[in-house]
Amino acid sequence: MKFDFLCPTFIRFGNGVLETTGQEACKIGLGRKVLLVTGKSSSKKSGSLKRVEELLEKEGLQVVLYDQVEQNPSVETVEAGAGVARQAGCDLIVALGGGSPLDAAKGIAVLAAQGGGLDDYFGTDRASQALPVIAIPTTAGTGSEVTRYAVITDWKSRQKRTVASFLICPRIAIVDPLLTVTMPKQITANTGMDALSHAVEGYLSLKSQPITDLLAIESIRLVANYLPRAVGQPEDLEAREKVMYASLLAGLVINQTRTGIIHGLGYELTLNYQIPHGLANALLMPQVMEFNRISCPEKMVQIARALGENVAGLSAREAGRRTAFAVKELSIDLGMPENAAEAGLRIEDIKGFAQNFVQTKRSFGAAPRYPDIKEVEEIYLKSFRGEI
Ligand SMILES: [Fe+2]
Repeated sequence: MKFDFLCPTFIRFGNGVLETTGQEACKIGLGRKVLLVTGKSSSKKSGSLKRVEELLEKEGLQVVLYDQVEQNPSVETVEAGAGVARQAGCDLIVALGGGSPLDAAKGIAVLAAQGGGLDDYFGTDRASQALPVIAIPTTAGTGSEVTRYAVITDWKSRQKRTVASFLICPRIAIVDPLLTVTMPKQITANTGMDALSHAVEGYLSLKSQPITDLLAIESIRLVANYLPRAVGQPEDLEAREKVMYASLLAGLVINQTRTGIIHGLGYELTLNYQIPHGLANALLMPQVMEFNRISCPEKMVQIARALGENVAGLSAREAGRRTAFAVKELSIDLGMPENAAEAGLRIEDIKGFAQNFVQTKRSFGAAPRYPDIKEVEEIYLKSFRGEI
């Protein structure tokens, strides 16, 4: 057995741990000047932004607010945030929100420490310095609070591009399930399915290993059992806690394994139709799982079990085939569209998306089965029609 496992993040998990934000920040350094990075509205509406500001200031930390992060943060947004941090002399970043503010904050952490533009750092291990980041997720899905990835949208090339560096793994993750209680049900569903896609892609990745396999299967099991409850009853604290935990586990998984082609294909739907990331993944997951099935039949059986399917007496082939249907049924139960056409995919765009996708092959090199352009078109087409 041989593996690497990277997790330099101190994880503080549990209801109410938000209240320790100020004390935790002081462990990184007293008297720091904090750039507090968040989105444009939800952390204000929920009151979490105000609370985090109070908690930091109570401990004597100065806070500079950068609240301009949009969904799918752009290169320009991250570079502007870094400008604010540098001008104010910030030496600590606190990120509050969903995956967008967290990823933007990690990009800012590099630029504020090193200067230059994101073009200098896209790719793997191109940064040599970064400010410390404290990540406080308010959605349960991205896992960004423990990963070395910052996914940023480059509108010039119309691509999602990634800064990957262990230097941007948050120093501290404050993971408080109570923060997710105010999430609307659609966002709960979308982000929860993003977590599921991380667990599934991590489990099937060529870079999977014994620890990630354990974490991924547990994450899949928890999403299947508790995400419908969290969507159905927003104040079900047990469900909120389990889904948040599942998301954290899946983040730890992809930090080792990377994601796969669900993410690669889904990015086109997000860039071109603004379909939320988690929904885009949910729309493609059954078709990609079915495509992957021949490369990893035994693992597909384990996924079927974790999803709660009764696979007793079934061959690996039959059990594996059930997994894709189980994922589709789960997303329909959550109120998601039945096919990608309903979500906005246009059939005439499929050829172009397939072409874009095959050009990004290197980013998804750990996928268990790699499709050629015809197979990519087929996956999009099946998703468009809602077929598996
Ligand atoms: Fe994702």
